[in-house]
Amino acid sequence: MVADLVDLEQALVGDGELFLAYRDGCLKLLDRQNLKKGGLAVEVDPRPGEQHSYPAPKKDLLAQAVGKKTYSVVDATCGWAQDSLALFRMGYQVTCIERSPVMAALIADGFERLAQKDWVQRRELKPPTLLVGNAIELLANLPEAPDCIYLDPMFPAKRKQSAATRKSMAILRDILGDDLDRQQLFDVAWAATGRRVVVKSPDYAEPLGGKPSESLQGKLLRYDVYLK
Ligand SMILES: C[S@@+](CC[C@H](N)C(=O)[O-])C[C@H]1O[C@@H](n2cnc3c(N)ncnc32)[C@H](O)[C@@H]1O
Repeated sequence: MVADLVDLEQALVGDGELFLAYRDGCLKLLDRQNLKKGGLAVEVDPRPGEQHSYPAPKKDLLAQAVGKKTYSVVDATCGWAQDSLALFRMGYQVTCIERSPVMAALIADGFERLAQKDWVQRRELKPPTLLVGNAIELLANLPEAPDCIYLDPMFPAKRKQSAATRKSMAILRDILGDDLDRQQLFDVAWAATGRRVVVKSPDYAEPLGGKPSESLQGKLLRYDVYLK
């Protein structure tokens, strides 16, 4: 699967300082200048402080925004898959979309490792489905409208990100840039969803879809919820 997504030999990213390679049993994005640092992979284990039971309790802002009674979620901006995986661990049926072939290869590798986890196998769970391509096109052709479409596009940075997110998100920004078509993505998501669209956005950004039905304020970020 991973090999189908990207030719690893060719997978030099940006100016060639970053590249993909298998290290320590997983596919990693490595920085030529900092080879000793170990690189970045999609982290499939629960985040620090997150409960290890399955399904994990739906108690954080993300679950509140997506809706506790929601069943199917399409994460149309998968990135490092941390939101997708948190939703998966809470028991949602998750489909992911990512347009960067490099990120898609990292995600596919992460989901393959997830499928091998003891807790996933014991419960016969299937990792999220990954669709590779532009969500603006893919959302318009979904076989069924999901209950929720979740968007976390890249907005222009206004301030330094926190240490935890800086590394992985800053690299994402370096290689992919801002998602300048995020407004169009919202419009397509609104047309394609069954019940709601959730936009994760920095607290300084204007809401993508105009006044939301509800806004959940976190530390430095916000979840704007649009209900149909
Ligand atoms: C800020 S990151 C998402 C981070 C993610 N929520 C996480 O938990 O790791 C945005 C990602 O969405 C992807 N993306 C943005 N617009 C997209 C689109 N129209 N179609 C597919 N992927 C898109 C970008 O390539 C990038 O990897």
